Amino acid sequence: MLSQKDLFKSAVLNAVNQFKIENKIDCPEIDEKLVRVENPPRPEMGDLGSPMFPFAKMFRMAPPAIAASVAQSLKKSAENDASLASLGEFDAAGPYVNIKLNKAASASGILASIVSQGENYGSFDSAGKKPLEGQRIMVEFSSPNTNKPLHLGHLRNDALGESVSRILKKAGAEVFKVDLINNRGIHICKSMLAYKLFHEAKNETPESLGMKGDHFVGQCYVEFDKYSKEHPEAVQQAEEMLVKWEQGDKEVRGLWQKMNSWTLDGLKETYKRTGIVFDKFYFESDTYLKGKDEILKGLEKGVFFKAPDGSVRIDVTDVVGKGKDEDSHEKVLLRKDGTSVYITQDIGTAISRHNDWPFNQLVYVVASEQNYHFKILFHILKKLGFGWTEKLFHLSYGLVNLPSGRMKSREGTVVDADDLIDSLHAQALKAIEERGRDNSVGNPDEVAEKVALAALDYYLLNVAPVKDMLFNPEESLSFNGNTGPYLQYMGARIASILRKAKEQGLEPSSSVEDFSLLTAESEWALIKDLERFPSIVQKSAETLDPSGMASYLYDVSKSFSAFYRDCPIVGTASENERLAKARLALAQCTLSVLKSGMDLVLVPYLERM
Ligand code: ARG
Repeated sequence: MLSQKDLFKSAVLNAVNQFKIENKIDCPEIDEKLVRVENPPRPEMGDLGSPMFPFAKMFRMAPPAIAASVAQSLKKSAENDASLASLGEFDAAGPYVNIKLNKAASASGILASIVSQGENYGSFDSAGKKPLEGQRIMVEFSSPNTNKPLHLGHLRNDALGESVSRILKKAGAEVFKVDLINNRGIHICKSMLAYKLFHEAKNETPESLGMKGDHFVGQCYVEFDKYSKEHPEAVQQAEEMLVKWEQGDKEVRGLWQKMNSWTLDGLKETYKRTGIVFDKFYFESDTYLKGKDEILKGLEKGVFFKAPDGSVRIDVTDVVGKGKDEDSHEKVLLRKDGTSVYITQDIGTAISRHNDWPFNQLVYVVASEQNYHFKILFHILKKLGFGWTEKLFHLSYGLVNLPSGRMKSREGTVVDADDLIDSLHAQALKAIEERGRDNSVGNPDEVAEKVALAALDYYLLNVAPVKDMLFNPEESLSFNGNTGPYLQYMGARIASILRKAKEQGLEPSSSVEDFSLLTAESEWALIKDLERFPSIVQKSAETLDPSGMASYLYDVSKSFSAFYRDCPIVGTASENERLAKARLALAQCTLSVLKSGMDLVLVPYLERM
């Protein structure tokens, strides 16, 4: 079924072409892409509008004059064309051709498609196609190092990666979610060295200490940092350990294996708690040798060169320009001792991934601190001659801090992910108890956990990825503001309205004629919001930015609240049962859009709250 938007668009297109012919304007047929449809800034201007700017040049006329003529001719055509007339009323406002849609017809059309598409509503564009159908998109996110636990920055990363993946899927793409575990390198050796110094003799393990594995290994890392300040030679010892590791030294590898599995168990526990799921884990230890091979091949081909100190490098002047320092335009790929660096493994990992699951796009969700790294990485892969380099995309996101200041893990003042969620959980539980809801919500502890996650993820996703941000825990938990818990509250409220109506024998209507009764102002505003869902999905998918989805859901919640204030449901039933049932259907459609949308921004739905 064509939407009102498409009908309006094609009517405008016809009228513009008509105008061209009547005025004998000598230019090719108007391309339909030139006809844009927007939402006018104020509802009294109309429901849809189309700007005439794109035609000014070819018609040699000012846009308002074109708009006036086009609107006039649409009005005239409507006199003889019933289906055009039933679409709504055309008018010109400045450079725009606007339409006030026929509410009754639009309301039935929109609600009918929500009801018939059910859970799939939102996936189809106006031509009835899924916009990303046939696209294979790999999304890499989280990607921690194994020397410390997840911190607040990872929570933003995880929220973005998971949300973007769900949105891409909703838009029709086949999505493959991967996590890169950086389990090799000097950082791990530092934790290992501290373990040997302070814990090995006592045979301490996370279990014996009653700690999460990642927290314990993270503690070792902090211990190393302190120790190395008084014993600078420790850094060299760690470097020697890395060389031994690369040589496959049995003892070093044994300890490495043990400590990495402690960390990984801990990380997985956090993923489970936050609802983050991966299709595959990539381990640096598996891919770095492939990276090394590629570097050696590139050295032979002359893409890289051997520096006087024995390290292998690439000249990146093309990417960064000539710096002040002698070799700032050179990037080391293999150290002089032959060990590989961070970017080496990324070269191997990218190649393995393209072999494992040939993709149309690979999205790296990684902090903006690594913009330079990814520029160089893509440059190197291109130089090595891989044709798919164009398909790589760095989804860069800004810093996130608590209001109290920046986190620095080396000093042990990191905002730990688990601790933060624990504290949100405790505050949510307290709020539930204070509101006297602990008996009516079911299991207060489970509900508090879901409220905590909603607060966290919504707050993190409601800001465009590129922006730096502060995470304010109190604000995120507020039940009446632009927050995750507010969306949950609105969802639970609608569920309760539907439950109570049912108890009184009132079920939502499924009749298109009944839907056409929904023409009151706040009904109309809500219906128009629901109509926008598919285009919001599409836009969020194309921009890889969930923040538009988050604010959309807030709009829907506010519109529902206004509708419920203005339009009684059960209260009307005795006078006008059809209207009451149509309003219930609108409530049900709102809940269904809200639920799908909440899932896309990781806000768990709660039946009762
Ligand atoms: N583990 C790295 C870090 O914590 C991030 C990895 C990002 N992904 C990548 N393919 N390089 O800084």
